[in-house]
Amino acid sequence: MCGIVGFSSKDTSAVGPLLNGLHRLEYRGYDSAGVALEGAEGIKIYKQTGKVAKLDALLKKALPGDEAQKFTIGIAHTRWATHGLPTVANAHPHVSGDGSLALVHNGIIENHAALRAGLEKRGAKFLSQTDTEVLAHLVGAFDKGDLFSATCEALRRVEGTYGVALISEKHPGEMIVARKGSPLVIGVGENETVVASDVSAIVAYTRQVIYLKDGDVARITPDGIEIRSLDFASVSREVQEVDWDIGSIEKGGYEHFMLKEIFEQPDALQNTIRGRLDSRDGTAILSGLNLTPRELAAVRRIVVIGCGTSLHAGMVGKYLFENLADIPASPEQAAEFRYSNPIVGPDDLVIALSQSGETADTLAAVRESIRKGALVASLCNVVGSTIARETGRGVYLHAGPEISVASTKAFTAQVMALCMIALKLGRTRRLSREDGIQLAAEIERIPELIKAVLAQSKTIEQIAEKYAKANDMFFIGRGILYPTALEGALKIKEIAYVHAEGYQAAELKHGPIALLREETPVVALLADVPGKEKTLGNVQECRARRAPVIGIVTEGDAAAAAAVDDTIFIPRTLPSLSPIVTVVALQLFAYHVARLRGCEIDQPRNLAKSVTVE
Ligand code: M6R
Repeated sequence: MCGIVGFSSKDTSAVGPLLNGLHRLEYRGYDSAGVALEGAEGIKIYKQTGKVAKLDALLKKALPGDEAQKFTIGIAHTRWATHGLPTVANAHPHVSGDGSLALVHNGIIENHAALRAGLEKRGAKFLSQTDTEVLAHLVGAFDKGDLFSATCEALRRVEGTYGVALISEKHPGEMIVARKGSPLVIGVGENETVVASDVSAIVAYTRQVIYLKDGDVARITPDGIEIRSLDFASVSREVQEVDWDIGSIEKGGYEHFMLKEIFEQPDALQNTIRGRLDSRDGTAILSGLNLTPRELAAVRRIVVIGCGTSLHAGMVGKYLFENLADIPASPEQAAEFRYSNPIVGPDDLVIALSQSGETADTLAAVRESIRKGALVASLCNVVGSTIARETGRGVYLHAGPEISVASTKAFTAQVMALCMIALKLGRTRRLSREDGIQLAAEIERIPELIKAVLAQSKTIEQIAEKYAKANDMFFIGRGILYPTALEGALKIKEIAYVHAEGYQAAELKHGPIALLREETPVVALLADVPGKEKTLGNVQECRARRAPVIGIVTEGDAAAAAAVDDTIFIPRTLPSLSPIVTVVALQLFAYHVARLRGCEIDQPRNLAKSVTVE
């Protein structure tokens, strides 16, 4: 949510790297964008509403020819609006009272009103409605000749979250960056230092990075990097190597990142599974969980927390833990859980699901669970992310970078990881070795089964053409497929702007059926899971109201195919793994509908990839 880039070098222009970085981070927000550039004549600021391409065009005009070469240090920002409309005035960078200091910020300053009132009493005049501008004024007010300590001084007074980067005309050659609750990474290149909200904006320059921790403040100059704590004590942070390269974050010939990520799922899941199955004993090897068999056997209840797509994966987890491991499990929306004064303790295993590992609601729920003494683990995709670090135990998804705002491969990787945890827990209890071996073997087959679904992209597109003009859709599923129905509905809502609802198949007749008409397609999840026959009955109820039904049907299931108007076939698998195979068809359906409706698939309106505000 909001992307920050900073660039510092002795002799390379900052303009290109800042814009490239913003393009990479645009998935974090795209309401407005801006840069502050430092050169021999001081700081120049350029801002624009809308996408980074507009800022690009503005800079090309403003800095023709070699003009851009004059600026070797700069900061940049792409915004997802929280305080104030997406206007130029509210776009970052914001400046201090005398205009000499420019600052970009990701996060929320919760006590901004009190700080603003205090500054106004001393004569400050604000130009925007943002909380960020208050911070720019505050640092400026504390600057009595040392920008590093002035920043620490100001940040000690801030309540809330921030990733910040700032430069000042009074301190040429210096950039100060800091984080608390919003990620910030420093890329340590040969001839340049690149700062960004995540490594995707850095890997084009270097794979050597420092992940700042909460409370870290760093001073970057072309000669080096110095890190301190807020109380100005020296801090040392290790330089780590990023284990993927620029190719992983390019479209690679696909029209959209979402399509690329849907098609990457066989490889992504192969990576999630690799080295984690013990097919001889029918169990999983998940050393990152760091739990002894005794500790695993002592788990009395599992709470799975997450938001959005991660919550839906968590809901699948409930069925997996209860069916495979006989452990009661409850999925909880992270923010609701956090504020419900949750009853959790040492017998409970709380599993936090988050692709980004930075979602504020999930992070807050993690902290609440740790405070209450529960065992807390995480399933994150982004290595070194805050949730992964704070839980200290878990299973990395290894699905590779997910750029599209709509989450796809993270969902299937999360369900896969949950399935392996359930397998492991099940084998400490009543799941037999034979059943464990059967499940492990089927898990190994999943990448191939996904390929079979992907091969039907054309057919799915043809079905999407029939229904692309619908304004409302329903997705129905039963048991373990109910969360997949929710996920199918979420995908089509967020990228195709079609109003869609996911329901338990049995629930439709208790009210929502009143909405069904010829113009209201129903997508029925009919893979072979317990209760499928009953869902077929619900399909008849829909068709009796003239609603056309698209069935996601197991290959060879002629009866189910005959019961629906359009069929997408998926390969047969075990019920525990059916959400994975089913959801791939739904992802492709949503993608094709969105494309036919001319939607901006990778950057849907009002959304951002990583939601770092509560
Ligand atoms: O990074 P996280 O998995 O914690 O993100 C949670 C949700 O914000 C995310 O899944 C969101 O719902 C996506 N837009 C879904 O496509």
